[in-house]
Amino acid sequence: MKQKKITVLHGPNLNLLGTRQPEIYGADTLDDVNNRLREAALLAGWEVVCFQSNHEGALIDAIHAARLDGTHAIIINPAAYTHTSVAILDALNAFEGTVFEVHISNVHKRESFRHHSYVSLRADGVIAGLGTHGYRAALDAIIKSEDAS
Ligand code: DQA
Repeated sequence: MKQKKITVLHGPNLNLLGTRQPEIYGADTLDDVNNRLREAALLAGWEVVCFQSNHEGALIDAIHAARLDGTHAIIINPAAYTHTSVAILDALNAFEGTVFEVHISNVHKRESFRHHSYVSLRADGVIAGLGTHGYRAALDAIIKSEDAS
C-alpha cells in the first residue's frame, strides 16, 4: 500500500531557525525539526515531505503541488505571511485535505499585528506557543485522526 503523505511547509526566515532570535524560536534548526518529523512519521507508516521558502509564490506553488501528489494533510507555518497573505489562504482553500497551522511562538502574546491569521480561516487545527514541538503535536493529531478514519 502507498504510504500516506504529509507535506510540511515553512515560510520566510524559518531557514534561520536555531540562530534567529533563539529566545523566541529556540535552538533547534530546521533540519532538526524536519528530521524528527520524518522519523516519527516513518514509525507510524507515513511519509513526510518538507519544504521551506522565503517566497510567497514558491509556497503557493508547493500547496498547488500538494493537491496533486497524494498529500493527505499540510502542516504549515506561514511565518510572517500568516498575517498578510490572502494568496496563501486562497491556495489552501483549493487543497482538499487537512490543514494544520503551526507557530513556534505564542503569536497572541506578541505584537498585535501577529494576532490575526488569514490562514486560520482555513486551518482545521492551530497550534501556537509549544516551541518546535508544535509541529510534532500537529503530526500526531493528523496521524491519529486519519488512521482512525
Ligand atoms: C511565527 C510567528 C510569526 O509572527 C513570525 O512572523 C514568524 C514565525 C512562529 O512560528 O512563531 O516568522 O510563525
